[in-house]
Amino acid sequence: MARVPEVSLLIHDLAAAVTPAGAGPLRGREFGVLRVHSPASMAISGERILAVGPPNEVLREIPSDAEFESVGGRGKTALPGLIDCHTHPAFLGNRAVEFELRASGAGYEELHASGGGIRSTVAATREGSEEDLRSAVELHLGWMLEHGTTTAEAKSGYGLDRETELKSLRAIRAAGHSSPVDVHPTFLGAHTVPAEFDNAKEYVDFVIQEVLPEAAPLARFADVFLERGSFEAPEAKRYLEACREFGLALRLHADQFSERGGIPLAVELGARSVDHLEATGHEGASLLAKSDVASVLLPACGLFLDLPLPPARLLADEGAILALGTDFNPGSSFCESLPLVMNLACTRLGLSPAEALCASTVNAAYVLGLRDVGRLATGYKADVLLLDAPDCRHVAYHLGGDRFAAKIKSGQIL
Ligand code: NIG
Ligand code: FE
Repeated sequence: MARVPEVSLLIHDLAAAVTPAGAGPLRGREFGVLRVHSPASMAISGERILAVGPPNEVLREIPSDAEFESVGGRGKTALPGLIDCHTHPAFLGNRAVEFELRASGAGYEELHASGGGIRSTVAATREGSEEDLRSAVELHLGWMLEHGTTTAEAKSGYGLDRETELKSLRAIRAAGHSSPVDVHPTFLGAHTVPAEFDNAKEYVDFVIQEVLPEAAPLARFADVFLERGSFEAPEAKRYLEACREFGLALRLHADQFSERGGIPLAVELGARSVDHLEATGHEGASLLAKSDVASVLLPACGLFLDLPLPPARLLADEGAILALGTDFNPGSSFCESLPLVMNLACTRLGLSPAEALCASTVNAAYVLGLRDVGRLATGYKADVLLLDAPDCRHVAYHLGGDRFAAKIKSGQIL
């Protein structure tokens, strides 16, 4: 019987291998602490990292008769594959008309209130088949992968009826099986109140009774948009509690335009994260920072909608678990690039490139409840980016120009 080789892939002579230090999410004084090996090599066994460090130490781990594939890393920097913990890829149609209207002064909330916005994407999404949706999610995951995303969360939320929500979740799962990107589905049944319902209460009753029981087994997380014009805290709470009973971990879109109790609710329910936070004040930031609920910042959305900046530095300095996401969606953030988001985190939110890297790897992994991705360390999944640059600052530094010489997913060169 053929012996499974211990080492399947060696990346040798890297300028550097860079990884968030420590274990678990990084917060407070640990946020932004990186471990840098320079020069470096990496040995991969199957889909896991076997060793990473100084070239001679890595070579010592490899038996002299071993056969394996080998990749030269001269001039390149190895980084963990990026993790996008907040995306909405399950939609059909586009919002280019709305984008143009906004460019001439129309407001995002105003368009939403007049039946456009999210509801126009809901109408387009309901018209397609499950196969159409699956192709759309595959396409969007492919775009993310081009920019170095190897793990992504993916929300439903453009169906808002039983059939289309379930179709969206199945499409997300199917696309996740065919894409190299690892996909973690979120049931965003409470994205907004669809046109056929008179009020949020009736719609939440419907979702809990008619959709959730079948949606829950298809998802890992539940999410709600807590905002004027969508759901207020009492409905959000009822929806999230019901989702929690079905075993889903909880996420909230909150404080995007206004503070209306999202953070206290998230802390009370032990949610995994609160996302957006552009309207969060001092008190909310402190409450989040003291909790284990992650703060997910979405600066591409802030840029796209010209929102005020979230209190990123305050959150980081007070010890919050800070993560970044693209918020990829057709209306408020048509952007699939985490490196671009990392640039915005540095240029607009006051994070350092090292903090932006931690926020897009280990801290995003925490949001998704994953313990074996986001670091280059023994035993972690071999999701590796070879950046065509001498050090890791270049991912964020090169605005819109992330240059990856190679991407490795679960030990396979793509
Ligand atoms: O995260 N805020 C709510 N949901 C999305 C936007 C959805 C849309 O405009 O289609 C967001 O920004
Ligand atoms: Fe979002």
